Order: sequence, then structure tokens, then C-alpha cells
Amino acid sequence: NTSEENGGNLKKQLAKLFEASLRETVPSEPDVEPLVAACTAKFGDYQCNNAMSLWSKIKGKNTDFKGPPAVGQAIMRNLPPSEMIESCSVAGPGFVNIVLSKTWLAEKIQKMLIDGIDTWAPKISVRRAVVDFSSPNIAKEMHVGHLRSTIIGDTLARMLEFSNIDVLRRNHVGDWGTQFGMLIEFLFEKFPNFEDINERDIGDLQTFYKASKQRFDADCDFKERAQKAVVRLQGGEPKYREAWAQLCDISRKEFDKVYQRLGVHLEEKGESFYSPFIPGVIEALTNQGLVQESEGARVIFIEGINIPLIVVKSDGGYNYASTDLAALWYRLNEEKAEWIIYVTDVGQQQHFDMVFKAAKRAGWLPADDRIFPKASHVGFGLVLGDDGKRFRTRATEVVRLVDLLDEAKARSKAALVERGKAEEWTEEELEQTAEAIGYGAVKYADLKNNRLTNYTFNYDQMLNDKGNTAVYLLYAHARICSIIRKSGKDIEELKKTGVLVLAHPDERALGLHLLQFAETVEEACTNLLPNVLCEYLYNLSEYFTKFYSNCQVVGSAEETSRLLLCEATAVVMRKCFFLLGIVPVYKI
Ligand code: ARG
Repeated sequence: NTSEENGGNLKKQLAKLFEASLRETVPSEPDVEPLVAACTAKFGDYQCNNAMSLWSKIKGKNTDFKGPPAVGQAIMRNLPPSEMIESCSVAGPGFVNIVLSKTWLAEKIQKMLIDGIDTWAPKISVRRAVVDFSSPNIAKEMHVGHLRSTIIGDTLARMLEFSNIDVLRRNHVGDWGTQFGMLIEFLFEKFPNFEDINERDIGDLQTFYKASKQRFDADCDFKERAQKAVVRLQGGEPKYREAWAQLCDISRKEFDKVYQRLGVHLEEKGESFYSPFIPGVIEALTNQGLVQESEGARVIFIEGINIPLIVVKSDGGYNYASTDLAALWYRLNEEKAEWIIYVTDVGQQQHFDMVFKAAKRAGWLPADDRIFPKASHVGFGLVLGDDGKRFRTRATEVVRLVDLLDEAKARSKAALVERGKAEEWTEEELEQTAEAIGYGAVKYADLKNNRLTNYTFNYDQMLNDKGNTAVYLLYAHARICSIIRKSGKDIEELKKTGVLVLAHPDERALGLHLLQFAETVEEACTNLLPNVLCEYLYNLSEYFTKFYSNCQVVGSAEETSRLLLCEATAVVMRKCFFLLGIVPVYKI
């Protein structure tokens, strides 16, 4: 059954039919792939665009066709019969238009309601993936860039998990730089009994970092001790390891507060984890002839890039790139991941480009990016303030992420109170809803844009209940739930006994959009673009609004069918929310 195989993906199911037709129509071109796209043309729901390019391949050769429209006609004629198709036509220079059968669409939606939305999950031929995201640096600020990485990475991980891929969610924290020598020496100086301290003693690690840096720059003796401390730490001396672990622990607690609030789960495997693997990996690359001497350092030259990838610094130490090579090696060989995804700002694009190209030269990855195993860099733009500059609270200060989330929650709570919810709801309901809306708004504002573009952080915009915002979408969902509740009908019972019919044009448009969920998530997932899913979700609520304003639900002759359509919309919306890391709201 093709529908099961494709997880409900309409485009793929149609592509299968067109593939059969193409083989029949032009047996001389067995490699031509079907080009099927959804369209909003008045002639159909989907279109096959192969006729024109096929014509240019076969014209002049021994063919009976008289031009692209004739090729289109033949493609249409040779389509195998299918229940999903209501009618076909050929338009213009040979586009084959497909109108899907309303009965078939309705049956598929009803089937999803019974079997669950997981039957519409994407089918991707990858067993295990690594998503390397968030990844802040110990004792340094966890800035809005890390927030973006956390939000985008979590969504991608959720989409891959939905596709039945085993996802290793990796927090590649910066816990192994030369800065640790300075931090450790400073810790010893300030707290001779450093074993007993806790985060309250140190206060803010960032301030601690700044103070130790000042000391480092001002005092030669200190500087020398700090440099030796790095060596002793990396050599594994217990006292130094302990101090390092203390510092990491304090940072970790801060990071965890943000993750907890965002509902994001991650497994920390920081830079330090990969350090034992670096020498072996560099040696292997050297034996393959990839590593060269250059100005005292050891580097890998990458074709087409004018700077080399430094893998051993001139002082013999390792760096960010050596760690990433070792981590990539580990993920491919030890963890057997087939897709390794890195979520960082676009500023690191060249770094990853060089690492991936080195890995290809080493034969770790195939040269062709369409073949797994593969590595992908998911870059994103800056977060800007209203002034169009990098987002900061005051002139120079960075935004504390926890404050930012608190503010979003406080504002959404205030809006709920203003609408009288404090009297209507329990304190717990109020808190939970404010949190769902506030955090959801921050996430959605980030995810709805193409991730490569910069986006402007603006509370008023993201918390607006109109327009393309999480608030609007969460309200839309709650409203659907309330329609169902107020009907007084048992929806579970209706799923089994009722029949869903897509008679009215607005019912049909909504139904078709519901069924396009599968191909949309698959596209968002394969291209690593969460905004594709956001756009789908926004359009879904628009289709629903149109349906609801033109079709009476409760009390109409079509009540049962329309309630089922409401329920299907709510189910799909909730899955979208889940994939975007947004907690749904059932009451407004
Ligand atoms: N710690 C880095 C930063 O804050 C991000 C690490 C990304 N992951 C990696 N494997 N390099 O910029």
C-alpha cells in the first residue's frame, strides 16, 4: 500500500503514479524523475511538469510526439488508475494537472483520526542522527545566539525523532580552552578551599571570568602560573581537574535553568570529551598525507578556500578545529551516526565547511552530499534589537536569557489578567498558560523566519494576538477545542461512528491542507528548515478560519462531519506545536 509506505505524503504518492506513467510514455528515458509539485492553480491540486523537459530530450529523435502538449497528454493517459485522483487535465505547454478525490481525502483524514498522526510521519532513510546544538561556553555568557541554537536545534531534533530516527542530542559545550588555566589559578587564589564553594560564593561566573582576565593581563607571574595550569589540567592532575569540574558545574547549573524553562532536553558531551581522541585522529590524517606544515603549525589545505584549517597550533596545542575533527570522527565511527547536524550562527559556516571538506578528503564522508552519511551545518542569523543592532538590554550588556524568558512570561500573564482570567482561572492555570504563551512566543518568533536571516526581537510583536504569532495560533487551537467541547458530543465516539465528508469548497481546502502535513514536515526535516512548518501551521489556521466562518458547525445538518474536521485540525495543530517545542493551550 503506497499510502502506508509514504506516511501519507501526497506528493510522493503522486510521484509514484507519474513515475509509472513516464516509464510507459518514454521507455527510452528510464532515468527521468517525476517532477510533481503542489499548486494553487484553479485546474488542480498538484501538477506534473515533466512534459517540457522531456520534449527537449526526445525531439529530433525517433518520436511520434508533435510537441510538449502531446507529451503531457500521453503522460496523463498512461497514469495508472488510482482512487486518489478525481480528474486530470493538460494545460498550456504540457502541465498535467491533478484534482484529488474528495472522498479519498476525507477517508485519509478519518483514518488518521483513528490510527493517530504518527502514521503521517516522514520516511527518511537514516537510523541515527546527531544534533549538535545550544553548545554554550563555560564561564562565558550564554547569549541570544545560543538561545537561537537551542530553539532551532530542539525543533530539528523533534522533527527527526518524529521521523523515527534515533537522535543524539548533543550539547558540545566549550569546556576545554586555554582560558581554564587562568580561571583555575584565579579560583585557587580567591578560594583556597575551593572544594567547598558553591555558585553563591562565585556569584556570576561571567564577572569571575572578567576579573580573572584582568588579573591575567596585569600580572606576569599570574600569567605564567595560568599557562602552567592549562598543562597540568590537560595532564590530568587531580587538583586541577577538580577545580575545572567545579567551574563546569556552576556553569552547567545556569545553563540548565534555561533548558528547563524551555523544556529542552540535551546531553552534554563537551569539547573535553573528545580531547583523548584528537592525537589519534590527527595521526591518521597525517598518515593519509592530508596534514602539512605551515608557519610552524600543522594544517589541512582545502581546495577553493584560501586559508588552511589549522589542526595543531604552532605551540603544539589543539584547537576548536582539532576538536571538531575528533568529534566528527567519533560520531561517525563510535556512535554510528549517519547524519550529523550542527546548529550555530552563520559566522561559523566556513569553519564547518572546512571540517566537512577535510572529512570528505579523508574518506569519512562521501563526496556527494545527497548520500548518507552526511554532515550539515544549520546556520542562523543574528538577533537584533529594535535599533537594528545586535540585541542587548543596555548599551553594552548582553541579555540574560533567563530574564528574557521571565519578561515574556510576565507580559503574557499581564495580558491574561487584563482579559479577566485571574478571576476565571486557578492560579496554576494562569501560570501555565502564561508560560506556554510567553515561551511559545519567543520560540515561534525565532522559528518562523528563514533561519539564515537576522530577526528583530520585539516583545510587542511576538506577543500580539493577531498576525503570524504563537499567541494567535495558540488561541486558534483553543477556540477549536472549545467548539468541540461546547458541542457536547463525544468526539472519540464520533471518530468511530461518524463519517467525514468534504462537500463545501472551504471544507475541501482545509481537508487538502491537513493532508499536506506529511509532505511539509518531510520537507522541513530534509531541508532543515523549521520555518516551512511554521508557515504550514499559520496557513492551517487561516484555512480553518475560512471554513469556520462559512460553514456552520454546531447545530447544522453536517455537524458530525464538521466536528471531525475540527478535531483533525486540532490534532494536526498540536503536532505542529509539539514539533516546534510549543506547549498547546486548550482554554482561552
Ligand atoms: N561553543 C561554540 C560557540 O559558542 C559552539 C559549538 C558548536 N558545535 C561544534 N561542534 N563546534 O560558538
